[in-house]
Amino acid sequence: MSFDLVVFGGTGDLAWRKLLPALFQASRHGKLPAGGRLLALARDERSDDEYRAYIKERFAEVEPSKRPNEEEFARFAQMLHYRRMDVSQPEHYLGLKRWIEEPRADEGRAGGRAKTAVLFMATSPHLFPVICDQLGQAGLNGPHVRLVLEKPLGHDLASAQEINRVVRSAFREEQALRIDHYLGKAAVQNLMALRFGNALFEPLWRRESIANIQITLAEGLGVGKRGDFYDQTGALRDMIQNHALQLLTMIAMEPPSSNDADAIRDEKLKVLRSLKPFTPESVARDVVRGQYKAGTVDGQAVPGYLEEVKVPAGSACETFVALRTEIQNWRWAGVPFYLRTGKRLSGRDAQIVVNFREVPHPIFPGTRQANKLVIKLQPDDGLELHLLAKSGSCSELLSPVSLDLDFDRAFASERVGGYERLLLDAIAGRLNLFVRSDEQEQAWRWVEPVLHAWAGDRTGPRPYSAGSWGPPAASALVARDGYAWAEEQ
Ligand code: BG6
Repeated sequence: MSFDLVVFGGTGDLAWRKLLPALFQASRHGKLPAGGRLLALARDERSDDEYRAYIKERFAEVEPSKRPNEEEFARFAQMLHYRRMDVSQPEHYLGLKRWIEEPRADEGRAGGRAKTAVLFMATSPHLFPVICDQLGQAGLNGPHVRLVLEKPLGHDLASAQEINRVVRSAFREEQALRIDHYLGKAAVQNLMALRFGNALFEPLWRRESIANIQITLAEGLGVGKRGDFYDQTGALRDMIQNHALQLLTMIAMEPPSSNDADAIRDEKLKVLRSLKPFTPESVARDVVRGQYKAGTVDGQAVPGYLEEVKVPAGSACETFVALRTEIQNWRWAGVPFYLRTGKRLSGRDAQIVVNFREVPHPIFPGTRQANKLVIKLQPDDGLELHLLAKSGSCSELLSPVSLDLDFDRAFASERVGGYERLLLDAIAGRLNLFVRSDEQEQAWRWVEPVLHAWAGDRTGPRPYSAGSWGPPAASALVARDGYAWAEEQ
């Protein structure tokens, strides 16, 4: 199957930091279908060779194991092309269409037939309306065209709906692939495998056996040079509305009837619709926002958020959110779900912790620690099942032990990165791991009352020291229910 992958914004940050390195890995792993071409579009004039030289230079900045050697780069560079594109010029779209449709030597007699064209929007969303409109007018929206959209897809419900309306004016829903790169992470796919490929856990996956579930997406990094972008966004929009909620849907959904994209997305949507809506009172009680002050991360002194470049003086932007919610259905009624994310926390640590209930009647003395399943997303990818066992000594006491599955080690040779996986899925037309517009809008609907409550609340975010686990109020939020965050247990 031949394909063209076209990147709008081909010299931008996203293209460089994520897409091209992922595409190179896919090429190195031999996963890109033969005969495919990658085309970068941007405003300035460059030749293919100049673009290839630019990309080659930038590869020097990626981690050594992901850097191509001369031969690998030469092979990858053959696929790489560049075109100047002014997105407001209709003739540039017609030129693009001709480029996509031109017969190619390796296609023989079948040359000129429609092949898959994946159009990746790595531009600012304010260009989506003009690009979608022009693509439609140029006839670049046929059934073989897929449009890939990257966040931020709106900053509230109305703006997300507007983007979806614009996209729908030229494309059908199944042609629009919304990326949430967390869904490309291997651990997230393993969550599906764990729940629906094994009989062991599903009978326990409910309120009768589970005490609470915690989703933590912690980063040691600060906002870096993106202070201006981040300040318009904040942790709730940047991480909770998308990544954390997507993880929550995967953990809480009912078993889908099949592994088809819509069977899965229907179930995820039901979870989002069952989330307990926030009110001004519950925002004040169940949501903690924080902002980092100077501190130490990994032994390095780091500045506070307000000292970061391009952050406006006195900003009330949140760099941390912890919240408590519930899912109002028979499976989960009354079970707290705690979601937490933040910059400049104690380190990079993304995990989901499923805390099971304690045994109903303890017969062993000592530890009464309940079982716990930890799904680790980052920095390592794996599963830990925490149990209690006898140590083998004469003591009657039970000791905690854990069964560890290290997927990175077990499947080392087969692993593909998140973006790599999602780009390959986009080329192949596998939609399971892309977010549907109704899911995305429902997620906005749920977070909006929090944004409104904060807008009217002058107290602003609570301070926390860089290198900590966020404001103490985040611990109090969980302690109120008689529980503790994983690192405090
Ligand atoms: C992005 C956010 O979506 O996810 C960033 O915009 C964040 O602020 C990043 O750093 C985290 O992704 P990962 O895969 O590094 O955990």
